Amino acid sequence: MSSSAILQTSIRPLRIGMIGAGTVGGGVYEIIMNRLGGSSNKSLAASAGNANNTPVITKICVRDASKSRDFHIDTSATEVVTDVKSIINDSEIDIVVEVMGGTGIAKDAVMESLRQGKSVVTANKALIAENLQEIVSLVDKVNANNVGAKTVKFAYEASVCGGIPIIHTLQSCYKGDIINEVMGICNGTTNYMLGKMEQGVDYDEVLSEAQALGYAEADPTADVEGHDVRAKIAILAKLAFGTTVEVNTIPCMGITNISVVDFEYAKSMGCTIKLVGSAVRQSEFGEHDGALSVYVSPKLVPNGHLLASASGCGNAVAIDSANLGIASFTGPGAGRYPTANSIVADVMRVANNTCIAKPFPLSSNIEIDNDYVSAFYIRISFQDGLGIIRQVGELAESQGVSIHSILQQPITDRMHADTVVTTEPCKYSQIKTLCELIEEADFALGAPVFMPMIIDY
Ligand SMILES: NC(=O)c1ccc[n+]([C@@H]2O[C@H](COP(=O)([O-])OP(=O)(O)OC[C@H]3O[C@@H](n4cnc5c(N)ncnc54)[C@H](OP(=O)(O)O)[C@@H]3O)[C@@H](O)[C@H]2O)c1
Repeated sequence: MSSSAILQTSIRPLRIGMIGAGTVGGGVYEIIMNRLGGSSNKSLAASAGNANNTPVITKICVRDASKSRDFHIDTSATEVVTDVKSIINDSEIDIVVEVMGGTGIAKDAVMESLRQGKSVVTANKALIAENLQEIVSLVDKVNANNVGAKTVKFAYEASVCGGIPIIHTLQSCYKGDIINEVMGICNGTTNYMLGKMEQGVDYDEVLSEAQALGYAEADPTADVEGHDVRAKIAILAKLAFGTTVEVNTIPCMGITNISVVDFEYAKSMGCTIKLVGSAVRQSEFGEHDGALSVYVSPKLVPNGHLLASASGCGNAVAIDSANLGIASFTGPGAGRYPTANSIVADVMRVANNTCIAKPFPLSSNIEIDNDYVSAFYIRISFQDGLGIIRQVGELAESQGVSIHSILQQPITDRMHADTVVTTEPCKYSQIKTLCELIEEADFALGAPVFMPMIIDY
Protein backbone atom coordinates (compact mmCIF):
# COMPACT_ATOMS: atom_id res chain seq x y z
CA MET A 1 0.00 0.00 0.00
CA SER A 2 1.38 3.44 -0.90
CA SER A 3 1.92 6.02 1.84
CA SER A 4 -0.88 8.20 0.42
CA ALA A 5 -3.30 5.24 0.55
CA ILE A 6 -2.35 4.64 4.19
CA LEU A 7 -2.94 8.31 4.94
CA GLN A 8 -6.31 8.21 3.22
CA THR A 9 -7.34 5.17 5.25
CA SER A 10 -6.25 6.71 8.52
CA ILE A 11 -8.22 9.92 8.07
CA ARG A 12 -11.35 8.31 6.71
CA PRO A 13 -14.24 9.04 9.09
CA LEU A 14 -16.54 6.27 10.18
CA ARG A 15 -19.55 6.45 7.89
CA ILE A 16 -23.01 5.83 9.19
CA GLY A 17 -26.20 5.18 7.30
CA MET A 18 -29.20 5.85 9.52
CA ILE A 19 -32.53 4.21 8.69
CA GLY A 20 -35.26 6.32 10.30
CA ALA A 21 -35.01 9.93 11.45
CA GLY A 22 -37.93 10.44 13.80
CA THR A 23 -37.90 10.87 17.58
CA VAL A 24 -34.79 8.77 18.21
CA GLY A 25 -33.07 9.31 14.86
CA GLY A 26 -33.29 13.10 15.24
CA GLY A 27 -31.45 12.86 18.57
CA VAL A 28 -28.80 10.52 17.14
CA TYR A 29 -28.23 12.92 14.24
CA GLU A 30 -27.88 15.97 16.51
CA ILE A 31 -25.45 14.26 18.89
CA ILE A 32 -23.24 12.74 16.20
CA MET A 33 -23.23 15.62 13.78
CA ASN A 34 -23.24 18.56 16.18
CA ARG A 35 -21.81 17.45 19.52
CA LEU A 36 -19.30 14.91 18.23
CA GLY A 37 -18.35 17.08 15.27
CA GLY A 38 -19.52 14.72 12.52
CA SER A 39 -20.84 17.64 10.51
CA SER A 40 -17.62 19.53 10.26
CA ASN A 41 -14.69 18.38 8.19
CA LYS A 42 -12.57 20.74 10.26
CA SER A 43 -13.46 18.84 13.40
CA LEU A 44 -12.74 15.57 11.68
CA ALA A 45 -9.24 16.68 10.83
CA ALA A 46 -8.75 18.26 14.23
CA SER A 47 -9.60 15.14 16.22
CA ALA A 48 -6.01 14.06 15.79
CA GLY A 49 -5.02 10.47 16.37
CA ASN A 50 -8.60 9.28 16.30
CA ALA A 51 -9.78 10.88 13.10
CA ASN A 52 -10.64 7.59 11.48
CA ASN A 53 -13.11 6.86 14.25
CA THR A 54 -14.95 10.15 14.15
CA PRO A 55 -18.42 9.24 12.97
CA VAL A 56 -20.35 11.06 10.31
CA ILE A 57 -23.90 10.30 9.15
CA THR A 58 -23.58 10.28 5.39
CA LYS A 59 -27.11 9.06 4.62
CA ILE A 60 -30.45 9.00 6.34
CA CYS A 61 -33.39 7.04 5.03
CA VAL A 62 -36.92 8.25 5.74
CA ARG A 63 -40.38 7.48 4.42
CA ASP A 64 -41.06 11.03 3.24
CA ALA A 65 -38.03 13.05 2.19
CA SER A 66 -40.08 16.23 1.80
CA LYS A 67 -41.34 16.22 5.39
CA SER A 68 -40.03 19.03 7.56
CA ARG A 69 -37.90 17.73 10.44
CA ASP A 70 -37.55 19.06 13.98
CA PHE A 71 -33.76 18.94 13.68
CA HIS A 72 -31.34 20.46 11.19
CA ILE A 73 -29.91 18.19 8.49
CA ASP A 74 -26.53 19.26 7.18
CA THR A 75 -27.08 18.51 3.50
CA SER A 76 -23.40 19.12 2.71
CA ALA A 77 -22.57 16.01 4.74
CA THR A 78 -25.76 13.97 4.64
CA GLU A 79 -27.91 12.71 1.80
CA VAL A 80 -31.60 12.05 2.49
CA VAL A 81 -32.91 8.93 0.75
CA THR A 82 -36.16 6.97 0.82
CA ASP A 83 -34.95 3.51 -0.18
CA VAL A 84 -33.17 1.46 2.49
CA LYS A 85 -31.17 -0.31 -0.24
CA SER A 86 -29.39 2.96 -0.90
CA ILE A 87 -27.82 2.54 2.55
CA ILE A 88 -27.48 -1.25 2.69
CA ASN A 89 -25.77 -1.47 -0.71
CA ASP A 90 -23.51 1.54 -0.18
CA SER A 91 -20.02 0.07 0.17
CA GLU A 92 -18.79 3.31 1.76
CA ILE A 93 -21.07 2.88 4.77
CA ASP A 94 -19.52 1.10 7.76
CA ILE A 95 -22.36 1.12 10.30
CA VAL A 96 -26.12 1.00 9.87
CA VAL A 97 -28.17 2.61 12.63
CA GLU A 98 -31.71 1.26 12.47
CA VAL A 99 -34.19 3.58 14.22
CA MET A 100 -37.15 3.04 11.95
CA GLY A 101 -39.00 0.46 14.03
CA GLY A 102 -41.25 -2.41 12.97
CA THR A 103 -40.38 -5.97 12.05
CA GLY A 104 -40.84 -5.93 8.26
CA ILE A 105 -38.57 -3.61 6.26
CA ALA A 106 -36.46 -3.03 9.35
CA LYS A 107 -35.73 -6.74 9.74
CA ASP A 108 -34.71 -7.12 6.09
CA ALA A 109 -32.51 -4.03 6.37
CA VAL A 110 -30.79 -5.25 9.55
CA MET A 111 -30.19 -8.80 8.30
CA GLU A 112 -28.97 -7.70 4.87
CA SER A 113 -26.65 -5.08 6.39
CA LEU A 114 -25.07 -7.77 8.59
CA ARG A 115 -24.72 -10.11 5.62
CA GLN A 116 -22.94 -7.33 3.75
CA GLY A 117 -20.45 -6.97 6.58
CA LYS A 118 -21.87 -3.78 8.08
CA SER A 119 -22.20 -3.46 11.84
CA VAL A 120 -25.70 -2.68 13.04
CA VAL A 121 -26.87 -0.53 15.94
CA THR A 122 -30.59 -0.67 16.68
CA ALA A 123 -33.23 0.40 19.21
CA ASN A 124 -35.76 -2.10 17.90
CA LYS A 125 -36.77 -4.48 20.73
CA ALA A 126 -39.64 -6.06 18.80
CA LEU A 127 -37.33 -7.00 15.92
CA ILE A 128 -34.69 -8.43 18.28
CA ALA A 129 -37.09 -10.37 20.53
CA GLU A 130 -38.90 -11.95 17.58
CA ASN A 131 -35.72 -12.88 15.69
CA LEU A 132 -33.24 -13.34 18.47
CA GLN A 133 -31.82 -16.70 17.48
CA GLU A 134 -31.71 -15.80 13.79
CA ILE A 135 -29.71 -12.66 14.56
CA VAL A 136 -27.28 -14.54 16.84
CA SER A 137 -26.74 -17.21 14.17
CA LEU A 138 -26.25 -14.67 11.39
CA VAL A 139 -23.67 -12.66 13.36
CA ASP A 140 -21.80 -15.92 14.14
CA LYS A 141 -21.95 -16.99 10.51
CA VAL A 142 -20.76 -13.66 9.11
CA ASN A 143 -17.94 -13.52 11.66
CA ALA A 144 -16.85 -17.15 11.28
CA ASN A 145 -13.89 -16.17 9.11
CA ASN A 146 -13.24 -12.71 10.54
CA VAL A 147 -11.35 -11.54 13.59
CA GLY A 148 -10.93 -8.30 15.58
CA ALA A 149 -11.90 -5.08 13.85
CA LYS A 150 -13.15 -6.95 10.81
CA THR A 151 -15.99 -8.66 12.65
CA VAL A 152 -19.47 -7.20 12.32
CA LYS A 153 -21.08 -6.08 15.54
CA PHE A 154 -24.72 -6.07 16.52
CA ALA A 155 -25.40 -3.53 19.27
CA TYR A 156 -28.79 -2.82 20.84
CA GLU A 157 -28.34 -0.87 24.10
CA ALA A 158 -31.28 1.43 23.28
CA SER A 159 -33.72 -1.42 22.79
CA VAL A 160 -34.45 -1.99 26.50
CA CYS A 161 -35.01 0.82 28.99
CA GLY A 162 -33.92 3.55 26.52
CA GLY A 163 -31.22 5.49 28.34
CA ILE A 164 -30.32 2.99 31.10
CA PRO A 165 -27.18 1.06 30.14
CA ILE A 166 -28.66 -2.28 31.15
CA ILE A 167 -27.66 -4.30 28.07
CA HIS A 168 -23.99 -3.43 28.38
CA THR A 169 -24.16 -4.15 32.12
CA LEU A 170 -25.61 -7.61 31.57
CA GLN A 171 -23.17 -8.33 28.72
CA SER A 172 -20.06 -7.47 30.67
CA CYS A 173 -20.55 -7.01 34.42
CA TYR A 174 -21.95 -10.39 35.49
CA LYS A 175 -19.33 -12.69 34.00
CA GLY A 176 -18.31 -14.20 37.34
CA ASP A 177 -21.75 -14.06 38.85
CA ILE A 178 -24.89 -16.20 38.73
CA ILE A 179 -28.12 -14.32 38.13
CA ASN A 180 -31.19 -15.57 39.97
CA GLU A 181 -33.77 -13.06 38.84
CA VAL A 182 -34.24 -10.01 36.63
CA MET A 183 -37.26 -7.78 37.16
CA GLY A 184 -37.89 -4.70 35.09
CA ILE A 185 -40.24 -1.78 34.85
CA CYS A 186 -39.43 -1.30 31.19
CA ASN A 187 -42.36 0.71 29.88
CA GLY A 188 -42.57 4.40 30.76
CA THR A 189 -46.08 4.89 29.37
CA THR A 190 -47.70 2.34 31.66
CA ASN A 191 -45.57 3.42 34.60
CA TYR A 192 -46.82 6.96 34.11
CA MET A 193 -50.41 5.73 33.84
CA LEU A 194 -50.18 3.55 36.95
CA GLY A 195 -48.67 6.47 38.89
CA LYS A 196 -51.68 8.63 38.00
CA MET A 197 -54.11 5.84 38.88
CA GLU A 198 -52.46 5.60 42.28
CA GLN A 199 -53.47 9.24 42.73
CA GLY A 200 -57.09 8.29 41.99
CA VAL A 201 -57.39 9.02 38.24
CA ASP A 202 -59.44 6.46 36.28
CA TYR A 203 -57.81 4.27 33.62
CA ASP A 204 -59.71 5.83 30.67
CA GLU A 205 -58.97 9.36 31.81
CA VAL A 206 -55.28 8.70 32.35
CA LEU A 207 -54.96 6.94 28.97
CA SER A 208 -56.44 9.99 27.20
CA GLU A 209 -54.09 12.24 29.16
CA ALA A 210 -51.06 10.07 28.29
CA GLN A 211 -52.06 10.19 24.61
CA ALA A 212 -52.49 13.98 24.73
CA LEU A 213 -49.02 14.33 26.28
CA GLY A 214 -47.49 12.09 23.60
CA TYR A 215 -46.55 9.39 26.13
CA ALA A 216 -49.01 6.87 24.69
CA GLU A 217 -49.56 6.01 21.02
CA ALA A 218 -52.96 6.52 19.33
CA ASP A 219 -53.13 2.71 19.40
CA PRO A 220 -51.84 1.98 22.90
CA THR A 221 -52.14 -1.83 22.67
CA ALA A 222 -48.41 -2.63 22.68
CA ASP A 223 -47.94 -0.63 25.87
CA VAL A 224 -51.08 -1.31 27.91
CA GLU A 225 -51.34 -5.01 27.02
CA GLY A 226 -47.70 -5.54 28.03
CA HIS A 227 -46.39 -6.58 24.59
CA ASP A 228 -43.61 -3.98 24.70
CA VAL A 229 -42.41 -5.27 28.09
CA ARG A 230 -42.69 -8.86 26.84
CA ALA A 231 -40.19 -8.17 24.03
CA LYS A 232 -37.84 -6.44 26.48
CA ILE A 233 -37.91 -9.15 29.13
CA ALA A 234 -37.24 -11.78 26.44
CA ILE A 235 -34.06 -9.85 25.58
CA LEU A 236 -33.02 -9.45 29.24
CA ALA A 237 -33.75 -13.15 29.92
CA LYS A 238 -31.47 -14.21 27.05
CA LEU A 239 -28.70 -11.94 28.35
CA ALA A 240 -29.05 -13.01 31.98
CA PHE A 241 -29.66 -16.73 31.56
CA GLY A 242 -28.53 -17.59 28.02
CA THR A 243 -31.88 -19.13 27.14
CA THR A 244 -33.91 -18.01 24.14
CA VAL A 245 -37.57 -17.62 25.06
CA GLU A 246 -40.13 -17.43 22.26
CA VAL A 247 -41.95 -14.14 22.88
CA ASN A 248 -45.40 -15.51 22.09
CA THR A 249 -45.04 -18.20 24.80
CA ILE A 250 -44.48 -15.63 27.56
CA PRO A 251 -47.57 -15.18 29.79
CA CYS A 252 -48.46 -11.54 29.39
CA MET A 253 -50.98 -9.49 31.34
CA GLY A 254 -51.20 -5.75 30.81
CA ILE A 255 -52.75 -3.04 32.93
CA THR A 256 -56.20 -2.79 31.32
CA ASN A 257 -57.94 -4.62 34.19
CA ILE A 258 -56.32 -2.61 36.96
CA SER A 259 -58.50 0.02 38.57
CA VAL A 260 -58.21 2.66 41.25
CA VAL A 261 -59.69 0.28 43.84
CA ASP A 262 -56.68 -2.04 43.39
CA PHE A 263 -54.43 0.81 44.46
CA GLU A 264 -56.58 1.34 47.57
CA TYR A 265 -56.13 -2.31 48.55
CA ALA A 266 -52.43 -2.17 47.62
CA LYS A 267 -51.99 0.90 49.81
CA SER A 268 -53.61 -0.85 52.76
CA MET A 269 -50.93 -3.54 52.35
CA GLY A 270 -48.05 -1.03 52.13
CA CYS A 271 -47.65 -1.67 48.40
CA THR A 272 -47.98 -0.04 45.02
CA ILE A 273 -48.70 -1.61 41.60
CA LYS A 274 -46.16 -1.74 38.78
CA LEU A 275 -46.15 -3.45 35.38
CA VAL A 276 -43.15 -5.76 35.68
CA GLY A 277 -41.34 -8.07 33.27
CA SER A 278 -39.80 -10.93 35.24
CA ALA A 279 -37.28 -13.64 34.42
CA VAL A 280 -36.59 -15.88 37.40
CA ARG A 281 -34.99 -19.25 38.07
CA GLN A 282 -37.37 -21.39 40.09
CA SER A 283 -36.05 -23.26 43.11
CA GLU A 284 -36.11 -27.03 42.71
CA PHE A 285 -33.52 -28.72 44.95
CA GLY A 286 -31.70 -25.60 46.13
CA GLU A 287 -32.25 -21.88 45.69
CA HIS A 288 -32.79 -20.79 42.06
CA ASP A 289 -31.53 -24.07 40.59
CA GLY A 290 -34.63 -24.94 38.60
CA ALA A 291 -36.38 -23.96 35.39
CA LEU A 292 -36.57 -20.39 34.11
CA SER A 293 -39.89 -18.57 34.25
CA VAL A 294 -40.42 -15.48 32.12
CA TYR A 295 -43.62 -13.47 32.37
CA VAL A 296 -45.17 -10.01 32.26
CA SER A 297 -47.77 -8.89 34.75
CA PRO A 298 -48.83 -6.03 36.95
CA LYS A 299 -47.32 -6.79 40.37
CA LEU A 300 -47.97 -5.69 43.91
CA VAL A 301 -44.65 -4.14 44.92
CA PRO A 302 -43.91 -3.17 48.55
CA ASN A 303 -43.35 0.59 48.85
CA GLY A 304 -39.83 0.00 50.16
CA HIS A 305 -38.81 -2.20 47.23
CA LEU A 306 -36.23 -0.85 44.74
CA LEU A 307 -38.74 -1.10 41.88
CA ALA A 308 -41.28 1.08 43.69
CA SER A 309 -38.99 4.08 43.26
CA ALA A 310 -39.50 4.30 39.46
CA SER A 311 -41.94 7.19 39.08
CA GLY A 312 -43.53 8.94 36.10
CA CYS A 313 -42.13 7.66 32.81
CA GLY A 314 -39.06 6.29 34.57
CA ASN A 315 -37.77 2.74 34.16
CA ALA A 316 -36.04 0.47 36.67
CA VAL A 317 -34.40 -2.94 36.55
CA ALA A 318 -33.53 -5.01 39.61
CA ILE A 319 -31.10 -7.91 39.27
CA ASP A 320 -30.73 -10.50 42.02
CA SER A 321 -27.45 -12.41 41.75
CA ALA A 322 -25.24 -14.66 43.84
CA ASN A 323 -22.31 -12.21 44.20
CA LEU A 324 -24.06 -8.83 44.22
CA GLY A 325 -27.36 -9.59 45.90
CA ILE A 326 -29.89 -7.13 44.57
CA ALA A 327 -28.60 -4.31 42.37
CA SER A 328 -30.90 -1.82 40.73
CA PHE A 329 -30.62 0.44 37.73
CA THR A 330 -33.02 3.34 37.26
CA GLY A 331 -33.35 6.16 34.75
CA PRO A 332 -35.17 7.44 31.68
CA GLY A 333 -36.58 4.57 29.63
CA ALA A 334 -37.48 6.49 26.49
CA GLY A 335 -37.40 9.88 24.81
CA ARG A 336 -35.22 11.44 22.12
CA TYR A 337 -31.96 12.14 23.94
CA PRO A 338 -31.86 9.29 26.49
CA THR A 339 -32.46 6.75 23.72
CA ALA A 340 -30.13 8.50 21.28
CA ASN A 341 -27.46 8.51 23.99
CA SER A 342 -27.54 4.71 24.11
CA ILE A 343 -27.39 4.49 20.31
CA VAL A 344 -24.39 6.83 20.15
CA ALA A 345 -22.62 4.90 22.94
CA ASP A 346 -23.05 1.75 20.84
CA VAL A 347 -21.80 3.52 17.70
CA MET A 348 -18.69 4.65 19.54
CA ARG A 349 -18.06 1.16 20.94
CA VAL A 350 -18.27 -0.22 17.41
CA ALA A 351 -16.01 2.59 16.15
CA ASN A 352 -13.41 1.98 18.84
CA ASN A 353 -13.63 -1.78 18.47
CA THR A 354 -14.68 -2.16 22.12
CA CYS A 355 -18.10 -3.53 21.26
CA ILE A 356 -18.63 -7.06 22.52
CA ALA A 357 -18.23 -9.60 19.69
CA LYS A 358 -21.13 -11.84 20.68
CA PRO A 359 -24.28 -9.75 21.22
CA PHE A 360 -25.68 -12.39 23.57
CA PRO A 361 -22.57 -13.83 25.25
CA LEU A 362 -24.36 -16.49 27.29
CA SER A 363 -25.81 -19.66 25.85
CA SER A 364 -27.54 -22.27 27.97
CA ASN A 365 -30.24 -24.87 27.79
CA ILE A 366 -31.92 -24.06 31.09
CA GLU A 367 -35.43 -25.48 30.88
CA ILE A 368 -38.22 -22.93 30.48
CA ASP A 369 -41.31 -23.28 32.63
CA ASN A 370 -43.47 -20.18 32.48
CA ASP A 371 -45.95 -21.58 35.00
CA TYR A 372 -44.28 -19.35 37.56
CA VAL A 373 -44.60 -19.50 41.34
CA SER A 374 -45.64 -16.48 43.40
CA ALA A 375 -47.91 -15.25 46.14
CA PHE A 376 -50.96 -13.72 44.46
CA TYR A 377 -53.45 -10.90 44.97
CA ILE A 378 -57.00 -11.68 43.78
CA ARG A 379 -59.77 -9.07 43.73
CA ILE A 380 -63.24 -10.54 43.45
CA SER A 381 -66.21 -8.34 42.51
CA PHE A 382 -69.47 -9.76 43.81
CA GLN A 383 -73.12 -9.21 44.58
CA ASP A 384 -73.45 -9.50 48.34
CA GLY A 385 -75.00 -12.63 49.81
CA LEU A 386 -74.45 -15.33 52.41
CA GLY A 387 -71.43 -17.63 52.39
CA ILE A 388 -69.32 -15.95 49.70
CA ILE A 389 -66.05 -16.10 51.62
CA ARG A 390 -66.76 -19.77 52.47
CA GLN A 391 -67.31 -20.58 48.77
CA VAL A 392 -64.12 -18.75 47.74
CA GLY A 393 -62.26 -20.72 50.44
CA GLU A 394 -63.67 -24.01 49.14
CA LEU A 395 -62.72 -23.19 45.54
CA ALA A 396 -59.21 -22.23 46.66
CA GLU A 397 -58.91 -25.51 48.57
CA SER A 398 -60.08 -27.44 45.49
CA GLN A 399 -57.11 -25.99 43.57
CA GLY A 400 -54.61 -26.52 46.38
CA VAL A 401 -54.30 -22.77 46.93
CA SER A 402 -53.67 -21.67 50.51
CA ILE A 403 -55.21 -18.32 51.44
CA HIS A 404 -52.91 -15.96 53.31
CA SER A 405 -55.28 -13.09 54.04
CA ILE A 406 -58.72 -11.67 53.24
CA LEU A 407 -59.27 -7.93 52.98
CA GLN A 408 -62.58 -6.24 52.50
CA GLN A 409 -63.60 -2.62 52.74
CA PRO A 410 -67.03 -2.10 54.42
CA ILE A 411 -69.80 -2.86 51.90
CA THR A 412 -71.66 0.30 50.83
CA ASP A 413 -73.39 -1.15 47.75
CA ARG A 414 -74.70 -4.70 48.22
CA MET A 415 -75.17 -5.08 44.44
CA HIS A 416 -71.50 -4.34 43.73
CA ALA A 417 -68.86 -5.02 46.34
CA ASP A 418 -65.39 -6.44 46.24
CA THR A 419 -63.06 -8.41 48.41
CA VAL A 420 -59.38 -9.20 48.11
CA VAL A 421 -57.76 -12.52 48.84
CA THR A 422 -54.00 -12.93 49.03
CA THR A 423 -52.45 -16.36 48.72
CA GLU A 424 -49.40 -18.25 49.85
CA PRO A 425 -46.96 -18.94 46.98
CA CYS A 426 -48.50 -21.23 44.36
CA LYS A 427 -48.40 -21.71 40.61
CA TYR A 428 -49.80 -19.25 38.07
CA SER A 429 -51.89 -22.06 36.54
CA GLN A 430 -53.53 -22.79 39.92
CA ILE A 431 -54.57 -19.14 40.27
CA LYS A 432 -55.77 -18.96 36.67
CA THR A 433 -58.04 -21.98 37.20
CA LEU A 434 -59.20 -20.70 40.57
CA CYS A 435 -60.19 -17.36 39.02
CA GLU A 436 -62.04 -19.12 36.20
CA LEU A 437 -64.01 -21.10 38.81
CA ILE A 438 -64.77 -17.97 40.84
CA GLU A 439 -65.97 -16.21 37.66
CA GLU A 440 -68.50 -19.04 37.12
CA ALA A 441 -69.91 -18.73 40.66
CA ASP A 442 -73.37 -17.15 41.11
CA PHE A 443 -72.09 -14.31 43.26
CA ALA A 444 -69.29 -13.18 40.89
CA LEU A 445 -69.59 -10.00 38.85
CA GLY A 446 -67.11 -10.89 36.11
CA ALA A 447 -63.60 -12.28 36.11
CA PRO A 448 -61.50 -11.64 39.22
CA VAL A 449 -58.44 -9.43 38.82
CA PHE A 450 -55.29 -11.23 39.88
CA MET A 451 -51.63 -10.40 39.98
CA PRO A 452 -48.45 -11.72 41.58
CA MET A 453 -47.05 -10.02 44.67
CA ILE A 454 -43.46 -9.28 45.63
CA ILE A 455 -43.77 -10.20 49.29
CA ASP A 456 -41.68 -12.44 51.51
CA TYR A 457 -43.88 -14.34 53.90
N1 LIG B 1 -39.25 6.90 20.91
C1 LIG B 1 -38.61 6.39 21.97
O1 LIG B 1 -38.54 6.99 23.04
C2 LIG B 1 -37.95 5.05 21.84
C3 LIG B 1 -37.28 4.50 22.95
C4 LIG B 1 -36.62 3.29 22.83
C5 LIG B 1 -36.66 2.61 21.61
N2 LIG B 1 -37.34 3.15 20.57
C6 LIG B 1 -37.33 2.41 19.31
O2 LIG B 1 -36.68 3.20 18.31
C7 LIG B 1 -37.22 2.95 17.04
C8 LIG B 1 -37.66 4.28 16.41
O3 LIG B 1 -38.62 4.90 17.24
P1 LIG B 1 -39.05 6.43 17.01
O4 LIG B 1 -39.89 6.78 18.20
O5 LIG B 1 -37.88 7.27 16.69
O6 LIG B 1 -39.99 6.28 15.73
P2 LIG B 1 -40.59 7.45 14.81
O7 LIG B 1 -40.49 8.76 15.48
O8 LIG B 1 -41.91 6.98 14.34
O9 LIG B 1 -39.57 7.47 13.56
C9 LIG B 1 -39.57 6.46 12.60
C10 LIG B 1 -38.71 6.93 11.41
O10 LIG B 1 -38.63 5.86 10.47
C11 LIG B 1 -38.98 6.34 9.18
N3 LIG B 1 -39.66 5.28 8.45
C12 LIG B 1 -40.77 4.62 8.81
N4 LIG B 1 -41.13 3.72 7.86
C13 LIG B 1 -40.21 3.85 6.87
C14 LIG B 1 -40.02 3.23 5.62
N5 LIG B 1 -40.87 2.29 5.19
N6 LIG B 1 -38.96 3.58 4.88
C15 LIG B 1 -38.10 4.55 5.30
N7 LIG B 1 -38.22 5.17 6.50
C16 LIG B 1 -39.26 4.84 7.25
C17 LIG B 1 -39.89 7.54 9.41
O11 LIG B 1 -39.82 8.39 8.29
P3 LIG B 1 -40.72 9.73 8.20
O12 LIG B 1 -40.17 10.63 9.27
O13 LIG B 1 -40.49 10.26 6.84
O14 LIG B 1 -42.14 9.32 8.45
C18 LIG B 1 -39.27 8.12 10.69
O15 LIG B 1 -38.24 9.01 10.34
C19 LIG B 1 -38.36 1.94 17.27
O16 LIG B 1 -37.87 0.65 17.04
C20 LIG B 1 -38.71 2.13 18.73
O17 LIG B 1 -39.27 0.97 19.31
C21 LIG B 1 -37.98 4.34 20.64
